[in-house]
Amino acid sequence: MKLVVLISGNGSNLQALIDAQQAGRLRGEIAAVISNRADAYGLQRASEAGIATRVIPAQDYADRAAYDIALGDVIEALGAELIVMAGFMRILTPEFVQRFAGHMLNIHPSLLPKYQGMNTHQRALAAGDAEHGTSVHFVTEELDGGPVILQAKVPVFAEDDAEILAERVQTQEHCIYPLVVNWFCCGRLALRDGQAWLDQQPL
Ligand code: GRF
Repeated sequence: MKLVVLISGNGSNLQALIDAQQAGRLRGEIAAVISNRADAYGLQRASEAGIATRVIPAQDYADRAAYDIALGDVIEALGAELIVMAGFMRILTPEFVQRFAGHMLNIHPSLLPKYQGMNTHQRALAAGDAEHGTSVHFVTEELDGGPVILQAKVPVFAEDDAEILAERVQTQEHCIYPLVVNWFCCGRLALRDGQAWLDQQPL
């Protein structure tokens, strides 16, 4: 199965997917990496792995709707059946989400439904949480609100700052995201009636 990875920055989750593909742990082919930013370090990671890259800058389009149509057309032309969002810092239009419904995954650095949106590590620290983590979920029209597929938890220590906590969370992201993407590629995972299903069981 062909997939595309959407990024805006560092691309450490992209790297985890590339590593999984190279190790034979991903029954899928990363057909291309698409970024809205030309300076995203993840583009370099893709090139080094011999993966095609595309930069689609927002300023080339009149509005969000036009951007998302162009993005969707590129993805469709690649023949990709799965869109993996990995630090893609744009909010997608409902039209885009509907176009690829059930074929879009995202990873969000919190234990959803806690801390949708930005600055999740700071918010977990400020709340004095003993546990924090990350969630892989299907993308729906509700921002960071789609059905959760898999979460990984990490402890929060008294001396943590947001940077250390983010690192601890990211180490877990690099384990669980390739796993979930592989489930999808193997046909084990589906979004049905607004719910995530794994091996014909609701999650
Ligand atoms: C990850 O922490 C992910 O949870 C969030 O954005 C970050 C992307 O990091 N959606 P990277 O670019 O994969 O290193």
